[in-house]
Amino acid sequence: MFIKGNFLYTPSRTELTIRENEYAHIEKGIITGFCKEVPQDNQEEVVDCGRDIIIPAFVDLHIHAPQYINRGLGFDEELLPWLEDYTFPAEKRFADPDFARRVYTAFVRRLKAEGTLCFSAFATIHKEATWQLMEIAEKEGLKAYIGKVNMDRNAPDYLLEDTDQSLADTEELILRCREEMQRVRFIATPRFVPSTTEKLMTGLGRLCEKYDLPVQSHLSENRNEVAWVRELHPDLPSYTAVYDAFGLLRPQQTIMAHAIYLSAEERRLLKSKGIYLAHCAQSNANLSSGIMPLRRNLEEGLTCSIASDVAAGHTPAMNKQIALTIEVSKLYALEHEKEKALTIGEGLYLATKGPGRFYGCTGSFEKGYAFDALVIHLEDIEGLERTPFEKLQQYIYDGDDRNIVARYVNGKRL
Ligand code: GUN
Ligand code: FE
Repeated sequence: MFIKGNFLYTPSRTELTIRENEYAHIEKGIITGFCKEVPQDNQEEVVDCGRDIIIPAFVDLHIHAPQYINRGLGFDEELLPWLEDYTFPAEKRFADPDFARRVYTAFVRRLKAEGTLCFSAFATIHKEATWQLMEIAEKEGLKAYIGKVNMDRNAPDYLLEDTDQSLADTEELILRCREEMQRVRFIATPRFVPSTTEKLMTGLGRLCEKYDLPVQSHLSENRNEVAWVRELHPDLPSYTAVYDAFGLLRPQQTIMAHAIYLSAEERRLLKSKGIYLAHCAQSNANLSSGIMPLRRNLEEGLTCSIASDVAAGHTPAMNKQIALTIEVSKLYALEHEKEKALTIGEGLYLATKGPGRFYGCTGSFEKGYAFDALVIHLEDIEGLERTPFEKLQQYIYDGDDRNIVARYVNGKRL
C-alpha cells in the first residue's frame, strides 16, 4: 500500500522530519520507505490524504483504566488522601466484571478516539475485570501492556489481597494472556512500595524472572509518600533501591511513573538500567505533587516520556498532555537556571518514538517501523494555507479527536 500526505515524525528527540507530499510505502503493516511518485507499474492500493498531516500514533506509558470514571475528581487533595477518598472507592467497583466491561469499553474507545493506539495500563486487583480490559483492548485493535494491580498492605479491606492469592491470580493471567492475546501483553504491576509487602515484591520479582516480564509502578511522586517509604524500609538506601532489592527494576523493561524526588544515587541506578520514567506533568499539577526536572533528566541520559496518568491526569488526550508538558517546562525553566523549555519536536518525540521503544517498533515512520499512524485534518481557510509544521502545532495546542480522520495500526485502518 502507498499512502500520500504530509508526514511528520521524530527519529530522535532533537530531530523532527517533515516529508511534504510524499508517499509512504507499507508492506505487511511495516514501513519500507518513502517516495515522491508511485512506480508506473504500481498495482497496490494508493490512499491520498491530500493536505492532511500524518503523525505516529501516540503511546501513553502510564494510565489507570479503572480511574477513567474519576477524571477531574478530588484534586483539592494530595496523593495519599486522594487515593483513600477517591481512587480506592472507585477501584472497588471493579469487583463486578459487568461494570468493568462497560467502563473499559468506554475507556479503550476513548483512547482510540484520541489517537493513543499503544498504551501501558494499570487495571485493578481484580482478575476477571483485568481480563475484560485485555479482551477489549485486543478486540478494538490497540497495542497494550496491561497489568493486574498487586496490593497486600496499607489498603482498605476491600482492596487488600492475600499475598499467595495475589501471586496465583497474577500467574494465571500471565499464562492466559500468552495463550490468547496477540497485541496485548501482560505487565507486572505492584501498585507502589507502600501497597506491597516484601513477600509480595519477592514473589513478583520471581514471576518476572520466570516469564521475562516487564514491570510498571510508581516512584517518588509526593514528599509524604517518599517519607513513608523511608519509614517502611529503613534498611534500604532509597525508594528506587527498594524496587531494585526485589528484582523489580528490570533493565529496559520497567516503567516508573513520576520520579520527581530522586537522589544522585537513584538517578545513577535508573540510568544504568534504562528504566523508562513516565513524566506526568498534568497529574503532578493536579495533585500538587511537584515538577520533575525533565530537561536535566534528558540531558543526563535518563529515558523519559510524556504520560497521562488518568485519573490524576484529567484527560487521556496526548496532544493536550504534550502542550501542558511544554507549558509547565517553560514555567519551571523561569525558576531554574539550568532548565530549558521543551520544544514541540521534543514533545512529539516523548509521546511517540521515545515511549514506543518500550513496546517495539512503533512511534516513528522510519523503515522497519509498524505503520501506527494518525491522519489529522485541519480546516484550510481560503487565503490562509498553513504548513504541515504549523498544522502540527495547532493540532497539539487546540486540536481534539474530531481532527483525527483516520487511525492505522500495523498498516490497517481501524
Ligand atoms: N500511587 C499509588 N497509586 C497511585 C495511583 O493510582 N495514582 C497515582 N497518581 N499515584 C499512585
Ligand atoms: Fe499513576
